[in-house]
Amino acid sequence: MELPFAESWKIKMVEPIKKSTRAEREQWIKEAHYNVFQLKGEQVYIDLLTDSGTGAMSDRQWSALMMGDESYAGARSFYRMKDTITRITGFEYVLPTHQGRAAENVLFGVLVKEGDYVPGNSHFDTTKGHIESRKAFAIDCTVDEAKNTQLEVPFKGNVDPKKLDACLAEHADKVPFIIVTITNNTAGGQPVSMQNLREVRQIADKYGKKVIFDSARFAENAYFIKMREDGYQNKTIKEICREMFSYADGMTMSAKKDAIVNMGGFFATNIQEWYDMAKVRGIVCEGYLTYGGMNGRDMEALAVGLDENTEFDNLETRIRQVQYLASKLDEYGIPYQRPAGGHAIFVDAPKVLTNVPKEEFPAQTLTIELYLEAGIRACEIGYLLADRDPVTRENRFNGLDLVRLCIPRRVYTNNHMDVIAAALKNVYDRRNEIKRGVRITWEAELMRHFTVQLERL
Ligand code: F0G
Repeated sequence: MELPFAESWKIKMVEPIKKSTRAEREQWIKEAHYNVFQLKGEQVYIDLLTDSGTGAMSDRQWSALMMGDESYAGARSFYRMKDTITRITGFEYVLPTHQGRAAENVLFGVLVKEGDYVPGNSHFDTTKGHIESRKAFAIDCTVDEAKNTQLEVPFKGNVDPKKLDACLAEHADKVPFIIVTITNNTAGGQPVSMQNLREVRQIADKYGKKVIFDSARFAENAYFIKMREDGYQNKTIKEICREMFSYADGMTMSAKKDAIVNMGGFFATNIQEWYDMAKVRGIVCEGYLTYGGMNGRDMEALAVGLDENTEFDNLETRIRQVQYLASKLDEYGIPYQRPAGGHAIFVDAPKVLTNVPKEEFPAQTLTIELYLEAGIRACEIGYLLADRDPVTRENRFNGLDLVRLCIPRRVYTNNHMDVIAAALKNVYDRRNEIKRGVRITWEAELMRHFTVQLERL
């Protein structure tokens, strides 16, 4: 008999979690104004809000913490982290920051000017925020396939070369760089192929432009290339990473994802001029050049995490768990962005709650139902998150309305995946009875989903 697949690690430390009653959850979610960001962690049984900073560190990472050098300048821990980053990415200049958006802030602060255009695949919200707050435009050139959740294509995160070329042809002198997000979080944790990264490089070269990778989940992207793209089956993840980054001029990194630390990030490049400009802002906004918002011990853990998570076994365990959850949803007929992404499953809410009008936010409604059902906290990636159009102030209903079930790394077992799938099935089975959604009672101008207050209709 063939042995079944199992995790490439065993568990050394556990954290108890608690179930609650439906009556308690009714009370708590009401107090939270039907916004799951306003819930307390202890009111949640299984937390799928994000995979950011929520992973479980390994014994090697925990022991590395003890080796932290907390020197203000020139810490040994910085050099250890920098050497690891250079070995994995090929980038020589490394500027640490406290998290990913800080790397964006430091770099975009020197590169992005009013009236600029920054094309790429789908920009993450903070990336878009750092572009739009400088009165520049984030141009989404993702392939059209990404908009059809039921289409099963291997690299749904890709940049559409025609759209990118058209944007550059029109705005060439106003494009400071192209940004490619690997994997494409907004489109469902979907990977970008090596072929596509190569094409982006060629188009960039044609117009004399630079390329930056938003690299939060670059290791997961490399795993998909190995599994899905011809010619990469026999390459190691680290070899694939080196080739991916050879097509970029720099990277921003949220280390809270693929480096499996609770906090941290960096900007890395081979362009000395970029580094020299960014380092001035880095000192002002983040801290001195060899810590930039991180403790020495955090840089040690980051180095180990990056090294571990660019190994096949770790990534295989992680992504197969996401695929396991997807297979359960397939069994129950629940529609999600296909195929399963690297870090999450994105449930297509309007296809589930067909009676809830878009004006009443189907994905947020489904998020609330899932919490009420079993204390599972997912996250709306849909009409609330899309904010209003800055000019017309109308809600933006033109994108997808998804519920993201985001899986922290090395945290939950497949038994938890079974609970998540069963809870979702219970909601799915009574979907026709759910006829009303929610109404906004208070909202912020920007990034409203974090603080929005809602009432149930
Ligand atoms: N880029 C991508 C692709 C991201 O997914 C995130 C964060 C960032 C940049 C910003 O990094 O949080 O360290 O400042 N994504 C988290 C999420 C918050 O839940 O998807 P950060």
